[in-house]
Amino acid sequence: MANYESVVKPIGGPPSDVEHIKQESNYLRGALVETLSNPVTGGLPEDDNRLLKFHGSYMQDDRDLRSERERSKLEPAFQFMLRVVAPGGVATPAQWLVMDELAHKYGNGTLRLTTRQAFQMHGVLKWNLKKTIKSINDTLMTTLAACGDVNRNVMSGPNPYQSEVHGEVYEWARKLSDHLAPRTPAYHEIWLDGEKVVDSKEGVEVEPIYGPVYLPRKFKIGLAVPPANDVDVFSQDLGFIAILEDGKLAGFNVSVGGGMGMTHGDTSTYPQLGRVIGFCRPEQVIDVAEKTVTIQRDYGNRSVRKNARFKYTIDRHGLEWFSGELHHRLGWELEPARTYHFDHNGDRYGWVKGVDGKWNLTLYIQSGRIQDREGNLLMTGLREIAKIHGGDFRLTPNQNLIIGGVSSAKKRKVNELANKYGLTDGAHHTALRRSAMSCVALPTCGLAMAEAERYLPLLLDKLELVIDEAGLRDEEIVIRMTGCPNGCARPALGEISFIGKAPGKYNMYLGAGFSGDRLNKLYKESIDEKEILETLTPIIHRYAKERQAGEHFGDFVIRSGYVKAVTSGIHFHD
Ligand code: HEM
Ligand code: SF4
Repeated sequence: MANYESVVKPIGGPPSDVEHIKQESNYLRGALVETLSNPVTGGLPEDDNRLLKFHGSYMQDDRDLRSERERSKLEPAFQFMLRVVAPGGVATPAQWLVMDELAHKYGNGTLRLTTRQAFQMHGVLKWNLKKTIKSINDTLMTTLAACGDVNRNVMSGPNPYQSEVHGEVYEWARKLSDHLAPRTPAYHEIWLDGEKVVDSKEGVEVEPIYGPVYLPRKFKIGLAVPPANDVDVFSQDLGFIAILEDGKLAGFNVSVGGGMGMTHGDTSTYPQLGRVIGFCRPEQVIDVAEKTVTIQRDYGNRSVRKNARFKYTIDRHGLEWFSGELHHRLGWELEPARTYHFDHNGDRYGWVKGVDGKWNLTLYIQSGRIQDREGNLLMTGLREIAKIHGGDFRLTPNQNLIIGGVSSAKKRKVNELANKYGLTDGAHHTALRRSAMSCVALPTCGLAMAEAERYLPLLLDKLELVIDEAGLRDEEIVIRMTGCPNGCARPALGEISFIGKAPGKYNMYLGAGFSGDRLNKLYKESIDEKEILETLTPIIHRYAKERQAGEHFGDFVIRSGYVKAVTSGIHFHD
C-alpha cells in the first residue's frame, strides 16, 4: 500500500521560477505600474501576471473567441478576473450595490459568488482594472490576497440558526483575515493613491509573517460550526471546528493538512483531508494560525509547485512532527480534541428565524452566477432588495446567498421582492440540483479542459429524469463538477463528481462522505454524457431500492462495492 515516500518525490532542486519572481518583486511590485499602463497590449507579461494574482486578479482571455482572433492575427481577447475578499462571505447592502454597478460598468454584467464565499467579476479590461479596484476599496472591501501564495479568503459557516455563535465565529474569521493579510504597501501604491510608500525602515520587516518570498503556495482557512460542515472544513489547509458548551463557544478543534487540487495522471499529487490534532480556546486561534502559516512558510516545497501545498508538507513530515513544531513555536500545547459531530455540508433553503429574532432567507443560486437572463431577473431582484435591505448579505460556501438579518418589519417587503423576481423558485428544484456545485471553467478559465458551469445544469436536466423515475426528488446527493483537477468546486468531496479531462469528457468519482468527511474515488475515466447516464442510471435505481434507513448515496456506493472507501489522500490513486 502507498505511503508518502512512495507517492511524492523528496524535495530537492532549485527554487521554482515563481519563487524567483516573488523574490525579485520587491514585495509584489514587479513592473506592474509600467506594464499596467503599457498601451500597446491589453495583456501583461508572465512575471507581472504572477504577481497580479496576489493583488486579486488573473489575466484570462475569452476562450470562445480564441481561434477567431488567432485567424485574424489579433492578440487573444485579454481580460481580467477580479476576486474580492469577503471573510465569512459577509457584505453590506451598500457593498452589494457597488459590486453590481462595477460588474455592469467594467465587467461582463454578471457576478459570481465563489465556493470560498468571495465575489468574482469577469471580463475587466486592463485599462479599467485600477478604477475597478479603487471603487472596491472605497466601499471598504479589498482584492488583496484573494489569489496568490498567501492566506486566501477566510471561510466561516453562515448558519443562520445559531446566529449568536455564528456571529462570534465570523468575528474570528475576520480577525484571522486581517492578521494574515499581506502588509506590503505595494497594493496601496499600485491601485489606490499611487504614492510610493517608503517601506524599508531600518530593522522593520515589511512582511513579518510571510517574509519577502511569501508562502510556497496558497493557504486556506475555514471555520465550521457543527453540525453544519458547509465550509468543508477538512478541505482546508487549516480548519477550525467550533466546539459549543452550554450553547457558548468554548473553542475550536484544529484540523490541518487538507486540500483539493491534483494533476491528472500524476500520482504524486492528490486531494487530502485535514486531520484534527487538538483543541484551542477562541483567543488562541490567531496564534495557532500564524504559527501554522510560518511552519508552512519554512518547510513547504519551494521547488516543485505541484507538491507545495501544506498537505504535502504535513504528509512528508507526519502529524506528530507538525504538532511538536507547532507547540514549540506557540510555547504552549493544544488540548486534546473535543467531540463534535457533522451531519451535512450543504445549505438549508428558505426563511429561518435566528436566535436574535431576525429573519434570514437562503436562496439557491445556480453555480453562484448572479445575472439577469430572459424570464429570470435574478440580478435585478437582488439589486432591488439591496436598496431596501437593512441587514447583510452572506455568501455561502456552496455558492448560494443568504439575505441575512432581516427585521420582522422588513420581512414582508423582502419576501415580496424575492417572489416578484422569482428568487425563491430555486427552492423547488430537486434536492440533487440544490446540492450541486460547479467551478467557472469555460470560457474564462485558462486551465479548463472541459465545461463545468455551463454544462452541469444541462447534465442535471437529464439526471433529474432518472432521479424522478427512482422517486428520489427530495434526496440530497452532493454532486460537483470542475473543468480540471485543480478542484475549485471541491470535487473530491462530491458523492458524485465529474472532473474535466477533455472537451465533453470527464472522470467520474463516487463515494465521498455526505458531511465532507471522506474523499471520493475514481469510478470511470474519460466518459462522455451518454456513458455518464448509462453508468449512473442503474446505480441510482439500485440506491432507491436497496438503501438502508438514512443511508447517503456516498455510503451506499461503498457498501455496494462500486468503489472502495478512501481513508487518506495518500491512497487516492491506489
Ligand atoms: C493549482 C490549483 C488551482 C489553480 C491554478 C486555480 C486557478 C483558478 C482560476 C484561474 C480561477 C478563475 C476561473 C474563472 O473565474 O474564470 C479559479 C477560480 C476559483 N478557484 Fe481555483 N485554482 C486552483 C485550485 C483551487 C482549489 C483547490 C480551490 C478550493 C477548493 C479553489 C477555489 C477557487 C474558487 C472558489 C474559485 C472561484 C470560482 C468558483 O467559485 O468556482 N481553487 N481558480
Ligand atoms: S477547477 Fe480548473 S477549470 Fe475550474 S475554475 Fe478551477 S482551475 Fe478553472
